[in-house]
Amino acid sequence: TYVVSENCIKCKFTDCVDVCPVDCFREGPNFLVIDPDECIDCTLCVAECPAEAIFAEDDLPADQTHFTALNAELSKLWGVIVEKKDPPADAEEWQGVKDKLHLLER
Ligand code: SF4
Ligand code: F3S
Repeated sequence: TYVVSENCIKCKFTDCVDVCPVDCFREGPNFLVIDPDECIDCTLCVAECPAEAIFAEDDLPADQTHFTALNAELSKLWGVIVEKKDPPADAEEWQGVKDKLHLLER
């Protein structure tokens, strides 16, 4: 399965949503996750993310492996998003900022 990692937090560009053929993105207040039960490993979303936040589960950087469980957990709590929307006004400022997990809103 594919996994959304930390750099999406507070960036949430949503370009990924438009290309997913099976609508497996779920939307929280400032982060998106992938439902691992829906993802068909098509790889299309990876190149769309301006923040380079999406990885195959097996390719996650070592400091991001906990995002697999977080995507699984939050995907059951959050609703489907199927269309791109405007990112937060300060999205560019948060791109590449480290240690954003404590800023995740549920
Ligand atoms: Fe959707 Fe494909 Fe990305 Fe999985 S890899 S989340 S199916 S676009
Ligand atoms: Fe997040 Fe990248 Fe999608 S920033 S919302 S995973 S395009």
